[in-house]
Amino acid sequence: MKGIIIYKGKYGATQQYAAWLSAALNIPVATAGNETKDQLKDADYIIMGTSVYIGKLQLRDWVKKNQDLLAGKKLFLYLVSGTPAAEKEKLEGYIIGSIGADIGNKCTCFFLPGKLEFRKLSWVDKCLLTMGAKLAKGRGESISVADYNDVKVEHLSGLIASVHKLSEVSV
Ligand SMILES: Cc1cc2nc3c(=O)[nH]c(=O)nc-3n(C[C@H](O)[C@H](O)[C@H](O)COP(=O)(O)O)c2cc1C
Repeated sequence: MKGIIIYKGKYGATQQYAAWLSAALNIPVATAGNETKDQLKDADYIIMGTSVYIGKLQLRDWVKKNQDLLAGKKLFLYLVSGTPAAEKEKLEGYIIGSIGADIGNKCTCFFLPGKLEFRKLSWVDKCLLTMGAKLAKGRGESISVADYNDVKVEHLSGLIASVHKLSEVSV
C-alpha cells in the first residue's frame, strides 16, 4: 500500500514526528503544499500531522483545500500539542472546530505530546502564549509558559501499529 505523510508545524515537534514516521514506515514525507498532485492522488493512505496554536490546527487550510481528494482516502491524523492526551474531548474539539466533522470523523486520530522552548518563539507567539495563559487562569484553566519537551519516538507506536494493521488487512 502506498502512503504519504503531509504535515505542518512551526518549531520542529510535528516535523520530528514526521521524520520518525517516514523512517519507520518507509514512506515519503512533505510539508503541506510541497507535495505533488500525483503523490496525493496515488496514495492509498495519508498521514496528516499538525500542531495546535490557540485551539487551531496548523494544517486546517491544507485540509480544506484538499477536502475532495481526502474524502476518498484512508486517513490518519496526529495532533501535536500541549494538551495531555487524556483530555480527549478538548483535543477532538480542536479537530472538529478546525477541519469539520466530515473529514475529522474520517480520521484515525492520535494525540502526541509536543514541546515548548519559550526563548525560541517569535515575539507574536510569545505574546499570544502569555496572553492565552492569563486568560486561561481567569477561566480556572492552566496553560503552561514553562519549557517542556515530551517529543519521543515511542509515542508513535500506536500510529505505526495502526498503519501496519491496515497494510496486513489489504494484502
Ligand atoms: C502561541 C502558542 C499557542 C499554543 N496554543 C495551544 C493550544 O491552544 N492548545 C494546545 O494544546 N497547545 C498549544 N500550544 C502548544 C503547541 O501546540 C506545542 O508547543 C507544539 O509542540 C508545537 O509543535 P510545532 O513545533 O510542531 O509547531 C501553543 C503554543 C504556542 C507557542
